[in-house]
Amino acid sequence: MGRAGGRRRGHAPRSVRPAGDGGPVTSTGTVPAPAAADTARLGPYLAAALAAADEDRIVYDLAGIGERYAALCRQLPRARVRFAMKACPVDDVLTLLAHRGAGIDAASPGEAERALRAGIPAGRMHYGNTVKSDQDIAAAHRLGIRDFATDSREDVAALAAHAPGARVFCRVTTSGDGAVWALGEKFGCPPGEAVRVLERARQAGLVPAGLSVHVGSQQLTARAWHDALAVLAEVLRALMRRGIRPEYVNLGGGLPALGYLGDDGRPLEPPLDTIFAVIRDGMAGLRRIAGGSLGFVVEPGRHLVADHGAIRAHVARLARRRMPDGGRRYWLYLSCGKFNGLYEMDDVRYRLVFPGRTGPYVPAVVAGPTCDSADTCSPARGLVPVPETLASGDPVWVLSCGAYATSYMTRGFNGIAPLPCFVTGPQGPRPGRRATGRAADEDSRHG
Ligand SMILES: Cc1ncc(COP(=O)(O)O)c(C=O)c1O
Repeated sequence: MGRAGGRRRGHAPRSVRPAGDGGPVTSTGTVPAPAAADTARLGPYLAAALAAADEDRIVYDLAGIGERYAALCRQLPRARVRFAMKACPVDDVLTLLAHRGAGIDAASPGEAERALRAGIPAGRMHYGNTVKSDQDIAAAHRLGIRDFATDSREDVAALAAHAPGARVFCRVTTSGDGAVWALGEKFGCPPGEAVRVLERARQAGLVPAGLSVHVGSQQLTARAWHDALAVLAEVLRALMRRGIRPEYVNLGGGLPALGYLGDDGRPLEPPLDTIFAVIRDGMAGLRRIAGGSLGFVVEPGRHLVADHGAIRAHVARLARRRMPDGGRRYWLYLSCGKFNGLYEMDDVRYRLVFPGRTGPYVPAVVAGPTCDSADTCSPARGLVPVPETLASGDPVWVLSCGAYATSYMTRGFNGIAPLPCFVTGPQGPRPGRRATGRAADEDSRHG
């Protein structure tokens, strides 16, 4: 994606988005009040923390994250949850989930160390990144990690050399169709190759312990899960025929956040109940193939934290600018954008709340504060209704932006400090600790 990374693989296909009745918004004139003005989803602790904030910050609602975790455990009672900590490497979040029994999907030795410091034992972690150097493998092994994702014979040879006797699970490629981020061809291998990779692992003295998939992040269809589980069933049968009996299947991430808007400004409403039903069916089918003893792991990131993190930002300026075609267009510049909290602003549309401001609303392009044109929500994704009376300094709440916000924050691009991180719950807001172990507000001061 752009210059900043590589997660993005295209937008969700229009076919998986709900039909809207909003119609096109024009670049001038007023428009109806947005669905985004609805704060009901916020939850009382997050709403209170945002209302009390008189400066910019990102706030995570620990109570909300705990409830989402509990709901996930109820939906998939037979799966172990290993939080993909890249989605929110905040100590308080890691500790909360650890106390509830979750483990961690670590993508580097650095993440594993951070999770250990937050109190999660190595036995409840695996190394979920198929990309790793010899040094990474050795370091993770020294930290006590014994389960590693793989997808190539080269990686298997390296694991045998630097993590002798480790347990490996092979990631099977998915198309990512139906997801906002398909994750691409960077990870995984086709079903036949997965069988050969695990056979190679066995020959190399490793334990061929399992299989994994990732259906793409913010997966909006149940069909993708159905298809992925069918492929896993095929690979599992092939492995069993060769005398390899996996201990577990890792179903990866991909479970959606619930609070994003579609391009038309209406809620996305992913079919979560159907997704869980399909997953449970698929798990039962895999267990039948394996003869009953198969374990399951899920690695949610976004689903646990996105809806329970929000940013309190402020208006830099609402300007009605003359465009090259001679027309005028409203631009709403916020104090946060792609480089300080809204890295995913190109790919999803967030609910914006403008406390204390009401209509009339005008359609605007929303952009971040930096002197970089990439720091803009593409107008092609729809103009956003904003109060015409907005003034510089007015607070703006960006909802459901808790996933990947902290981890993708630059260290001060354009001299704009990273957002301080707060956590909240029944005791009220307090400074959070990023997983570096330093207070978040110290981070921003030194950013
Ligand atoms: C291996 C792995 N597991 C889990 C996740 C978390 O995915 P999500 O945030 O879609 O749940 C990711 C995200 O990139 C990943 O790479």
